[in-house]
Amino acid sequence: MVEFKIFRYDPDKGGKPHFQSYKFEAEKGMTILEGLFHIFENIDGSLAFRSSCREAVCGSCAMHINGMYRLACKTQIGVLGSRITIRPLAHLPVIKDLITDLTPFFEHLKEIKPYLIPKEAPTQKEYIQSIEERRRIDAWLDCILCGACYGSCPVASQDKNYLGPHALLKALRFVEDSRDGGAKERVAMVAKDNGIFRCHTIFNCQKVCPKDLDPTKAIAKLKMKTLFG
Ligand code: F3S
Repeated sequence: MVEFKIFRYDPDKGGKPHFQSYKFEAEKGMTILEGLFHIFENIDGSLAFRSSCREAVCGSCAMHINGMYRLACKTQIGVLGSRITIRPLAHLPVIKDLITDLTPFFEHLKEIKPYLIPKEAPTQKEYIQSIEERRRIDAWLDCILCGACYGSCPVASQDKNYLGPHALLKALRFVEDSRDGGAKERVAMVAKDNGIFRCHTIFNCQKVCPKDLDPTKAIAKLKMKTLFG
């Protein structure tokens, strides 16, 4: 038997945020996401949570599970024990239960122009990269924009304008890309008041990233680029 204590809140209906307890028999290998679906399908159809791919690719099911931000689809119940407490991502408005409004998160991402800015007018052919040039961005490519790093960052909790580890890591991903011509513009953007120098190097973002990326290191690299070019 496992017990899930789940954050419940429906702003449209009013009332206070609270935790609701659900007990059920968990099968071997069952993930937290499967547990949530079990509750939704068999115990309480009013429970709201977000998910899509179920294989740690889409980033929809990031939530706070037993003290840490994790992907519900990538976390097995058996690893955490029989009592599981689940909260939504922090620093974002709750739409219902475990579903947050990610608008501020994506607005910050938009600020750093998260797309390739070509150096010259596009041609009919692909942009060629050497193996070495491709390797330089390997470490920054796999972000699935789940929000775990943003939820874990204490600076983001205090400063709604802070760009956040997700946006800053994405900025470096383009700054380091040999095909990109917007590096100067992006480095200037991330050096503004709401950017890299607001980071206190707390490392939470690095600890929680489900894809083992390192936003702390990305931010440090951007700081070096701002200071020394
Ligand atoms: Fe936040 Fe990560 Fe910096 S947790 S303070 S962005 S090192």
